[in-house]
Amino acid sequence: MGYQNQYENWRNDPQGFWAGEARHLQWQTAPTKIFECNGSGDRWYVDGVMNTCFNCVDRHVEAGHGARIAFIHDSPMTGTKSHISYAELLDRVQCVAAMMQDKGVEKGDRVIIYMPMIAETAIAALACARLGAIHSIVFGGFAAAELATRLDDAKPKLVLAASCGLEPGRIIDYKPLLDGAIELAAHKPEACLIWQRDESPAPLIDGRDFEWQSLEGEARAADKRADCVPVLATDPLYILYTSGTTGIPKGVVRDNGGHLVALSWAMENVYNIAPGEVFWSASDFGWVVGHSFILYGPLAIGATSVIYEGKPIGTPDAGAFWRVISEHGVKALFTAPTAFRAIKKEDPQGKLVADYDLSAFKTLYLAGERVDPDTINWAEAALGVPVIDNWWQTETGWPICANPVGIELLPIKKGSPSVAMPGYELAVLDEGGKPVAANETGAIVIKTPLPPGCLPGLWQNRDGFEAAYMEDFPGYYKTGDAGFIDEDGYLYVMSRTDDIINVAGHRLSTGGMEEVLAGHGDIAECAVLGVNDALKGEVPLGLLVFNDGVNRPDAEILAECVQKIRDEIGPVAAFKLAVRVARLPKTRSGKILRGTIRKIANGEDWQMPATIDDPAILDEITEALKTLGYPPESKA
Ligand code: COA
Ligand code: AMP
Repeated sequence: MGYQNQYENWRNDPQGFWAGEARHLQWQTAPTKIFECNGSGDRWYVDGVMNTCFNCVDRHVEAGHGARIAFIHDSPMTGTKSHISYAELLDRVQCVAAMMQDKGVEKGDRVIIYMPMIAETAIAALACARLGAIHSIVFGGFAAAELATRLDDAKPKLVLAASCGLEPGRIIDYKPLLDGAIELAAHKPEACLIWQRDESPAPLIDGRDFEWQSLEGEARAADKRADCVPVLATDPLYILYTSGTTGIPKGVVRDNGGHLVALSWAMENVYNIAPGEVFWSASDFGWVVGHSFILYGPLAIGATSVIYEGKPIGTPDAGAFWRVISEHGVKALFTAPTAFRAIKKEDPQGKLVADYDLSAFKTLYLAGERVDPDTINWAEAALGVPVIDNWWQTETGWPICANPVGIELLPIKKGSPSVAMPGYELAVLDEGGKPVAANETGAIVIKTPLPPGCLPGLWQNRDGFEAAYMEDFPGYYKTGDAGFIDEDGYLYVMSRTDDIINVAGHRLSTGGMEEVLAGHGDIAECAVLGVNDALKGEVPLGLLVFNDGVNRPDAEILAECVQKIRDEIGPVAAFKLAVRVARLPKTRSGKILRGTIRKIANGEDWQMPATIDDPAILDEITEALKTLGYPPESKA
């Protein structure tokens, strides 16, 4: 059955379609009520009872696939490679869940996981799922203050952390960041279980911190193994914080049942992966891509997933991805376009590809930011496989638009993530909420209800959910992206409608950065905007107005501002461009003209906004941007 038929099947009978897909899971009580829209939102498989960990691990072992490899861990950072079979994974998860039970973790409790790209991160998440506890994984590149916000919002009983993460050329000690976060947060977890890494073991605080290895060893020695706790399909599996339009991150909630059904569908139909095949998502457990396609998706269908602790370049060279693909027989790779831009910059001719046998490799999937046709062309020529753009977001958890290779490879239109997947009905609306014509740009929205797997809400923030997604266009979910649909139904995602920027595939809020900068004692006001960057897609750039009477050197204050973002948001913000300006361009009603500044910085055509307060300010801004090398031609 082709894509069009599948899509029509869904459209004609959404509940029938998703009832059929639910049969791919093993349920303790199979759902009879497939969908319900009650006062608190849309829910899928409302009376179904299951366990995500059981479906991802136990089920495959019980079916006789215990010897199959679940995870391949490949770390050029430590020079190690290891394989974990489904049977070994079951043993680890049972004991880790037992160790968490010993610390009092029960169904519904929250657990924060602050860990790098090691197998224990996946084991920790699966152990939470096993107990019906709700995990929240925090990316290692965030600073203590970001972790503190998440501690206060999720109020975890326990934190599971590693002693350190490894970045090229430096060790990131996690314990000082964790200790700093706990000090900053009003909510204090009852205990922290620390996975001690040889590269930098952490000193532990008596009574609060415990060495994970010892506790897991004790659980195993005492043959303590936790059973799977049955949960409702609608019970939360995890909370994943993502950037919103303010500095306060949004806690995207994922349920158990709909999530696993949707991921199973996507693994087969979008990513074309069958049980036992090797899938590699070169992302991080801290992002939604890591949750969906390093951890839960591949395991849901009994595939093998690669956990890679390294970079596309520099570990040791731009051939790193090809080495991993050839050594582990990877069938499909999923990563962000920025990784390919980095490789292309180091090895423009793609010469390193020839050093490896990539015969098992069939498809490259790119997502996380807009894919420029240059990058697609380069990747296609270097690798000789289809390059598939797919568009989705933390909130949806799986592709909204893709080229469904597992069903059929549709014609590829470069610059478009192709067409809507079953479950999603897209529209492009103007500001008044009216559909625009084909090829006309507007706000991209999804007709509600959203399909299984998409967020049922924000963590304990019903009003925030309504305000962020549901209020602007009644009957539709607002994606926050703008773009157009062409006459063949192909979507083109062009920009955001809010302050979110995508830096090396990482989603960040410029509003959040402005809040941090405004907290500097010498800053009167500021504007942060995303400017184009050849490697990272976008990078943040800050224009800062100093308080009157400040007489320290500009460079000193600007350096402090850069450091402040690093300390309070984290290195991942990649905030390095900052310049002093005398004043900011505003409308007569006082709104900062960020869009116009952005166009000037990117060297795009721009028009003097009719509502501008004082046009002369834009000349000052143009001069200030030149000192930072923007637009790029002005570097000459
Ligand atoms: N823990 C601690 N610090 C981290 C980190 C982590 N897990 N991940 C990144 N950082 C740090 C980096 O070391 C860097 O620090 P620096 O400013 O001291 O150099 C900073 O955060 C910015 O990181 P990044 O934006 O990733 O830039 P980079 O120059 O280190 O690497 C790429 C650029 C393109 C190689 C890198 O972004 C990459 O591999 N991207 C792959 C795609 C990806 O992972 N996308 C995620 C969603 S799919
Ligand atoms: P995240 O929630 O971190 O996955 O970021 C989601 C956002 O990244 C989307 O709303 C888009 O703005 C952007 N994005 C993700 N994938 C794509 C894509 N394939 N093309 C264009 N933008 C994308």
